[in-house]
Amino acid sequence: MIIARSVNELQDAIARRNGSIGFVPTMGALHIGHRSLIDAARRENDTVVVSIFINPTQFLPGEDFSKYPRKEEADFKICEISGVDILFYPDVKAMYGEDEVRICAPDSRGYILEGASRPGHFDGVLTVVMKLFNQVRPTRAYFGKKDAQQLTLITQMVKNFFMNVEIIPMDTVREGDGLALSSRNVYLDPQERVEALKISASLKRATEQVMQGNLNSESIRQKMAAVLEPLDVEYIAIVNRFFESIDEVILGNTIILVAARVGTTRLIDNVWM
Ligand code: PAJ
Repeated sequence: MIIARSVNELQDAIARRNGSIGFVPTMGALHIGHRSLIDAARRENDTVVVSIFINPTQFLPGEDFSKYPRKEEADFKICEISGVDILFYPDVKAMYGEDEVRICAPDSRGYILEGASRPGHFDGVLTVVMKLFNQVRPTRAYFGKKDAQQLTLITQMVKNFFMNVEIIPMDTVREGDGLALSSRNVYLDPQERVEALKISASLKRATEQVMQGNLNSESIRQKMAAVLEPLDVEYIAIVNRFFESIDEVILGNTIILVAARVGTTRLIDNVWM
């Protein structure tokens, strides 16, 4: 595995490879959710590139940028044993200059839900993903449905800018008890870890309701809210694939999302149905 710390090193390493490139952008602290993306990239491409870059522009002032988990050694090992060919590990100076052109997320989808709770977050995500795509020039790029709004906005950016990359959505990987894997789960103490299960349990309740024929969004939201108590819920949303709010669940075109705080840790999860 080649570890590239600058854009030049990355491009030298890529120039030596032939065939398709599968790309998995991450912020590190890799877990089996990331691993499932890397495995898919490995199966479907000649070359696998993973990036680890904790992108400052997607963190708002006061968010966890400075304490975001950094696990360089373990991450390198996980990439190595997963068959990654090139690990791109730039520092901030390699990625950003001063007073740069930026990508702006669209108002309708970029500043609702996650974007309303974290205004400007998706501008930072889209800007860094655009940079990474231009550096790596992947054939396919793999993103988790866990970050549903991020996935949707990146898909839109690729379409709007006629970018030549196929976006591959990947299912959410969960712990045995339902908790969605997240780099931020390390912030939870044992009691919070138990409380956090209410988030996936509320989505399970929503799925059961839909399976029993209850398609009414308001009624489903109320049932989810009851499961989530007493967590500090930021939103429970029922939207279609374009992130438009819908009054009735449409099978094959619905995402149910939750954002809640467990202690001081903010967690998100969702189901696609
Ligand atoms: P990060 O949170 O490290 O996530 C990297 C990728 O892993 C994302 O596509 C995310 O959706 C996916 N992922 C996270 N948890 C997952 C799970 N439990 N199951 C499946 N996939 C999961 O998302 C980012 O980094 C950044 O915003 C990034 C896109 C790298 C831009 O900085």
